[in-house]
Amino acid sequence: MDHPIGKPVPRKEGRKKVTGQALYVDDLSFPDMLHSVTVRSPAARGKITNISFGGNIPWDEFTIVTAKDIPGANYVALILNDQPYLAESFVNHPEEPVLLLAHADKYLLEEARRNVHIEIEEQPAIFSLTDSLVKKEIIWGEDNVFKKFLVDKGNVDDAWANADFIVEGEYETGAQEQLYIENNGAIAIANETDGVTVWGSMQCPYYIHKALVKLFGLPEEKIRIIQTETGGGFGGKEEYPSLIAGHAALLAWKSGKPVKMIYDRAEDMVATTKRHPSRTRHKTAVTRDGKLLAMEIDFVIDGGAYCTLSPVVLSRGTIHAAGPYVCPNVRIHSRAVATNVPPHGAFRGFGAPQSIFSLERHMDKVAQTVGLTPEEFRRRNFIHEGETTATSQMIREPVDMDQLLTQAFQHSDYHAKRERFARENSASNGRFSKKRGIGFASFMHGAGFTGSGEVYLQSVVSAEATAEGIVRILAASTEIGQGTNTIFSQIASETLGLDFDSIEIVQPDTGRVPNSGPTVASRTSMVVGKLVESAVMGLKQTLAGSGLLPDKYSESEFKKACADYIAKFGSLKTSSTYQPPPNVHWDDEKYQGDAYGAYAWAIYVAEVSFDELTYEARVEDFVALQEVGRVLNPVLAAGQIEGGVAQAIGFTLFENVVWKEGRMANNQMTNYIIPTPADIPPIRVYFEENPYAYGPGGAKGIGELPMDGAAPAILNAIENATGVSFTQVPLMPEQLMDTMSKMEQAFT
Ligand code: MOS
Repeated sequence: MDHPIGKPVPRKEGRKKVTGQALYVDDLSFPDMLHSVTVRSPAARGKITNISFGGNIPWDEFTIVTAKDIPGANYVALILNDQPYLAESFVNHPEEPVLLLAHADKYLLEEARRNVHIEIEEQPAIFSLTDSLVKKEIIWGEDNVFKKFLVDKGNVDDAWANADFIVEGEYETGAQEQLYIENNGAIAIANETDGVTVWGSMQCPYYIHKALVKLFGLPEEKIRIIQTETGGGFGGKEEYPSLIAGHAALLAWKSGKPVKMIYDRAEDMVATTKRHPSRTRHKTAVTRDGKLLAMEIDFVIDGGAYCTLSPVVLSRGTIHAAGPYVCPNVRIHSRAVATNVPPHGAFRGFGAPQSIFSLERHMDKVAQTVGLTPEEFRRRNFIHEGETTATSQMIREPVDMDQLLTQAFQHSDYHAKRERFARENSASNGRFSKKRGIGFASFMHGAGFTGSGEVYLQSVVSAEATAEGIVRILAASTEIGQGTNTIFSQIASETLGLDFDSIEIVQPDTGRVPNSGPTVASRTSMVVGKLVESAVMGLKQTLAGSGLLPDKYSESEFKKACADYIAKFGSLKTSSTYQPPPNVHWDDEKYQGDAYGAYAWAIYVAEVSFDELTYEARVEDFVALQEVGRVLNPVLAAGQIEGGVAQAIGFTLFENVVWKEGRMANNQMTNYIIPTPADIPPIRVYFEENPYAYGPGGAKGIGELPMDGAAPAILNAIENATGVSFTQVPLMPEQLMDTMSKMEQAFT
């Protein structure tokens, strides 16, 4: 295909997936393989006093691993290295791994797991970020704080005196389960001679590699991590697979046999990471004509029992907390705090959905206070090219939020509906009617690692050609359903002018591919895709430089050149290493500067109905309009947006993690409810294309963006329908009933 970029090229691995040929980790089996389970803490916090093995179980047939069996360091190497692979003498959250069992019979294993008794001398635990902040107990470090940031622009303190209005608000978001279709799983082979090899479902092979080097105390080349086909990640397979891979590998090391560890849904939901719950407080100074003077934002996330990725989740949430507005004085104070629940972790949006929800609810409140429409208030404060964000990042690309807003309103018929709903809602004064409302959110999402992250990562992508003229891409970026393989093939095919089928994507395997960084942070298309582009460009230049390839060439001339080059020199391989775009500067100390190379900009509009009989809020229509640079593949890109919006509707109206003493009580798909197609409105996706100079083919990132805007748009619409301002998600019918019926009583 000529010029595949921008075309709906079919998914590279799609045929294998739909015909069942694609192999997921649980499809793999090795001779002599053992199955395995994890025995977990029954209590939230306390000292392990005794472990006993009861029941009618042939215990001598089992491989049993405890912390004492760990050959290297007992921590999951990540940021602070505070999370143990296996609790040694103290547990800090329910379901914390304490002991591992392996056996060939997986049914007997389950029986055995129930007959291991871990006794805990319990100590007081805390389960909410409020209790953690007030230090009801000190459960981590000196003050329960994993990390804090301060973003300080201008002078907030002096601004209050000049304000015509000061508007305060407090907003909360709950935990959310990633609910990928394929649960977590890994298979390991490990022994002194060969080292450790792990196959598994994962986003970040090199994160696992780094963790297992420490866990086993082995040299890097003795650890090999291979990604198997992965059925969804959404951040849920960013850091957790390092734990499960290590557990399988410890059992394999001790037993001398291959060990498979697969979580079932209940275990995956109760034990693995979720989205960080959050609380945000806003205090905003505005002038009479609706100009932002100062924003003071206090953003807190609940990190759970160990630090894991909380500092970077907090960072992204902090930087996005003041949104796409220009304000001369901004102070954002943020903290990630410890509680005795399983560590919260990466989940699509990575802190931004939390702080953006709060901001976009609050902006509607400020507008109301000033006496402007939500639209007019935002129009008076949108950021433009040449203006600076909260971190004083100068926007150097043309950004036209006004125009995006106008277009999103046209697509959603916003003005007409707002007017019609107001009329109909007030006309229907009988009880048990349906009210309608429409609301929106404006937001941005930075692509790539925050601040100096990409510079530290030093990502590499390689490309090699075979004598048959097939070009292979070697990258650690994983296909997790989002389209990595297809996008990379499109970029390589476009750059080289080769057929899409002449490009092969090498399975991510740390023994074969260089470290192109983790598959996270909306970085795969923009950052790693750019490296794919320059690596394959290197192949072309190498061939041209050796006189084997003319400037203009056909596919067969390219193949001939590859064959000739390889005959002469043996092999043809090039690599490309990350270079930051020019003029990107970030100050890690002051938290000021260019937080991201580029942002995607968006307006999401939600139309809702609220049923006064059943207290159900339904999203009836949804417009998602975004500027994401160039769209590489319109079908995959729209799929990302539709999926993200659906997941965000779940976050807003359906997905309620019920906590009991730090443990998820509803860890099944029958009682943790996610929206089905029947609950999802038409999601109408629109792209504005404004090519980004430093992205491959002009692309920016989109993976996380669609998670950000739906929750505030929906709650803004619910306020428009009901006149009631709700400030937290998930917003369940129970809560709607509670609030609304109290209000009805107050009026009668
Ligand atoms: Mo992510 S939430 O950056 O995998």
